[in-house]
Amino acid sequence: MRPITKLITEIVMSIDKHSLYDCLQLISENAKILFKADSCIIYLYDVAEDDLYVGACSGSHIDHTEDFRLKIGAGVAGWVAQNHQSVIIPDVSKDRRYLDEVNLNESGIKKRKSLIAVPLRAFDNLLGVMELERQGGKIFSNHDITRLKPLANIIALAVPRGADEGFAKLAEVCIRFLEEKDRYTHGHSLRVMRYAMIIADEIMLPASQKEELRLCALLHDIGKVVIKDTLLSKEGPLTRQELQTIRMHPTIGYNIVEKISKSLSKKILSHHEHYDGNGYPDCLKGEDIPLVSRIISIADTLDAITTERPYRIAANIDYAVKEVQRNSGVQFDPVLVDAMVQAYDKGVLTLVKI
Ligand SMILES: [Fe+2]
Ligand SMILES: [Fe+2]
Repeated sequence: MRPITKLITEIVMSIDKHSLYDCLQLISENAKILFKADSCIIYLYDVAEDDLYVGACSGSHIDHTEDFRLKIGAGVAGWVAQNHQSVIIPDVSKDRRYLDEVNLNESGIKKRKSLIAVPLRAFDNLLGVMELERQGGKIFSNHDITRLKPLANIIALAVPRGADEGFAKLAEVCIRFLEEKDRYTHGHSLRVMRYAMIIADEIMLPASQKEELRLCALLHDIGKVVIKDTLLSKEGPLTRQELQTIRMHPTIGYNIVEKISKSLSKKILSHHEHYDGNGYPDCLKGEDIPLVSRIISIADTLDAITTERPYRIAANIDYAVKEVQRNSGVQFDPVLVDAMVQAYDKGVLTLVKI
């Protein structure tokens, strides 16, 4: 496992075991090592004060104590927070923002320093800024920013927010992270959600269950966040070991989502169960599989067949509907397959494009 994936796995699996600050400290210390940086600061956004404060830091810092606050727009981190943009500074002594941030004049910088900073965001809301610094002429590159992005998204996942917006944001952060990992999953979660809603409307699923279905569909593959990118997009057949690893994603998803909702996590766990009991991970059968999971299973297959994969080209929706029908009562719930066919015959079920 690549070091960055290993760190992300560790964070995701231990969010509930550590306090937010322990978790951020763990991230900052590991990020410093992974990026061969001399220091790492994770700033958090204080909505009430409209400024940034230090959530965690590792390495040597000037004036970055516990009470250090930075106004939005001030310094490098403040600029990143204001503009919602990452920044690479090859030489901080030539950047006014840095000098302002640490209250230094140019002569106060002994060695040449390079810096990168990325915003921590969920939807368009700012949660904080992560900043890494190198000394002695080792300059950061665009590649470092690309590597830092998934980590920044995971940190955003660890930062708590208001109860009303928590879950939707978590979903958005996770999906964005997944889609950065694997280009073949691009738009997958959203399309699965749309197909699932079409089936839900056809069976007149009550509004409360529809909301649960919507979130579950968006998060159903969240467990893939800890599976290696190269494995997710591997071309050609998978070995037994690789298949076993991929098949762990419902259980990993369960472990992640369980911390927020037990009810949702159970449905995510069962999205690869088959109606005849030959699915995984628990070989559940028929109506022992939650209804929401049975709907997602059909929606997931419709999208898998109609999108290009590393090993095959995309088929059309007519073919996908026939394939699902062929597996009615085997992989899929026959009542739900009938509902899907009705929606298709009425012209409600068409190819979802995102
Ligand atoms: Fe899945
Ligand atoms: Fe999926």
